[in-house]
Amino acid sequence: MSGAAAASAVEIGQLIRPDRVHGRVYRDPALFRLEMEQIFHKVWVYLAHDSEVPNNGDYVRRQIGLQPVIVIRGSDGVVRVFFNRCRHRANLVCNHERGNAATLRCPYHGWTYSNHGDLVAPTFDEAYEPTLRSEDFGLTPVPRVQSYRGLIFASASATGISLEEHLGAAREFLDLILDRSPEGRIELSAGVQKMRYLANWKMLPENSVEGGYHGHFIHKFAFGLFDSRSGRDRLAHEEEWVRYLTGGHMLEDFRDVQYRPKQPPSGARKAYLETLSKTYGEERAQSLSFGHAPILFVFPNFLFVQTHIRRMQPVSVNETYVYYQPMLLAGVPPEINQDILRIHESSFGPAGFLSPDDIEIMERNQIGVEAQGNEWLFIGRGIHREERLADGGTIGHDMDENHLRGLWQHYARLMSRA
Ligand SMILES: [Fe+2]
Repeated sequence: MSGAAAASAVEIGQLIRPDRVHGRVYRDPALFRLEMEQIFHKVWVYLAHDSEVPNNGDYVRRQIGLQPVIVIRGSDGVVRVFFNRCRHRANLVCNHERGNAATLRCPYHGWTYSNHGDLVAPTFDEAYEPTLRSEDFGLTPVPRVQSYRGLIFASASATGISLEEHLGAAREFLDLILDRSPEGRIELSAGVQKMRYLANWKMLPENSVEGGYHGHFIHKFAFGLFDSRSGRDRLAHEEEWVRYLTGGHMLEDFRDVQYRPKQPPSGARKAYLETLSKTYGEERAQSLSFGHAPILFVFPNFLFVQTHIRRMQPVSVNETYVYYQPMLLAGVPPEINQDILRIHESSFGPAGFLSPDDIEIMERNQIGVEAQGNEWLFIGRGIHREERLADGGTIGHDMDENHLRGLWQHYARLMSRA
């Protein structure tokens, strides 16, 4: 670790306590740089789903922290991840967000690479020494790439734990999300909704895995409407849990929630539930049906929220991009996927009932942490009653903050490790 990084690492221990965090973790640009080095450039980062690059030559541009990368399916069908940087003078070899290409040509001096990453040839190569071998100038692969059920993750560090170890207890809940398709297959083919908010990246997981508490205030109208339709009594509190899953991962678990919908299910929904029951058995089929879908955060940049996957991209200490991609299910009646899209639009779309309020509240939060009179943010709700599990995870009531306490302890460990 560099000297500056070491100095900051010492301070981290003073900024995070079991039940509170210091405002500096949201607003200090030096800590943001350290987060990129210590977290995003070391751990497994979610990049894309297989279904975004279905054909040979398909690619999407992504980032690992601040480092630009390309996820591309070569003409041999293999998905590879390269740093998006020409080996000549470091220009982006790919400037489009997505597309299909047999070759990638750097716009600056025309160096051209195959979709396997090999340098086809430098341009005007008569002046290069004959000993220059194009094999030595291919695009640089990202050191580690692994998939989990079609979800592509990468790590910019050559060493570290495997993806399986990283996902840990979160795997069970990724399965619960992906098994909502009776074929166990999802498609991120419905387009992407890009959001930019002027607040720190860590506010997004804190806000997304916490409907129980803030929902009573900033989503009061929407929750009232949903509950009147589903017959749910949200204030009963007994049915919803927040969990810290270790590894920085967090969960809102709705499997115990009782719904008493006033409308009978449509024909398509009945058919869907029957297929789920046949595939997975009655009990699991219940957990897989729409209202029971969990909200899951896979550290540090993946979220699943009811209808969609969120991929988070930090920009600076007080600016973040987040990409919402509705999650369509393979092997279901078309009406089910149409329902997912309509619910997505009305809840999470640009004029939806939920997301615009969350974005607004995070931006106000970022302004709030600039006030330095009393620096500590308090996350102590339910600390006396959290249930600690053998693996180090915790379970709390729906409005408790045990999951946030777990997240911050994990963050402190990563930020201060050598
Ligand atoms: Fe919210």
